[in-house]
Amino acid sequence: MKVIAVNGSPRKKWNTATLLVKALEGAASCGAKTDLIHLYDLDFKGCISCFACKTRGGKSYGRCAVKDDLTAVFRSIEKADAVILGSPIYFGNVSGEMKSFMERLLFPYLTYTDPPQSLFPKRIKTGFIYAMNVTEDQMKEFGYLQLFNHHEMILKRIFGASEYLCSFDTLQFDDYSKVVSDRFDPEKKAKRRKEIFPIDCEKVYEMGARFAAGSLQ
Ligand SMILES: Cc1cc2nc3c(=O)[nH]c(=O)nc-3n(C[C@H](O)[C@H](O)[C@H](O)COP(=O)(O)O)c2cc1C
Repeated sequence: MKVIAVNGSPRKKWNTATLLVKALEGAASCGAKTDLIHLYDLDFKGCISCFACKTRGGKSYGRCAVKDDLTAVFRSIEKADAVILGSPIYFGNVSGEMKSFMERLLFPYLTYTDPPQSLFPKRIKTGFIYAMNVTEDQMKEFGYLQLFNHHEMILKRIFGASEYLCSFDTLQFDDYSKVVSDRFDPEKKAKRRKEIFPIDCEKVYEMGARFAAGSLQ
């Protein structure tokens, strides 16, 4: 059992990365081998729309033909039993690196047949962890659910199963007094970090453990 987590935040020790590490700890607690990939360490671009992955009889059919740092990541994911993506929300979407990564990972597996089919060689579990500044109510008001549900639908279609978890109202800086950020109450942020963030960590730990144990809710 191998569980891979992909960090779409440039920060390697902050909310997204911490949550992914917890998810992997949960997976490891059930005996899985784990790997954490930091996208910002890798040299790659988004899909270049070459359609080599969809060319009839082509040698790259169902696979991304672009050779760069993502090539090895895709091979690892094909061997994995579960994949957990994590991203901060930037301007109502995932980070640019995560978006580029998703284009490259997902497009080759999704056929243009009617109905669309998956060329991913097996069924695996997938999770998505989103970290964001907004509260849960603001997330709904701003329409983020549409994005999360859309990702869930595509991931289910390609990999067979998917679920997601949001961490809201995250602590964004170590010291709010150093940043022009009057909109946020540093005490409230610190309280939430102390009281709610650990609960988010427990939830993703359980997600990782469930994935590794082989059952999906
Ligand atoms: C460029 C940028 C854009 C952001 N846009 C949003 C946003 O649209 N909605 C939101 O809730 N948070 C937004 N945030 C806040 C981050 O999503 C939040 O701080 C998150 O916890 C960062 O993840 P990290 O701690 O793993 O780096 C933004 C942060 C940055 C740097």
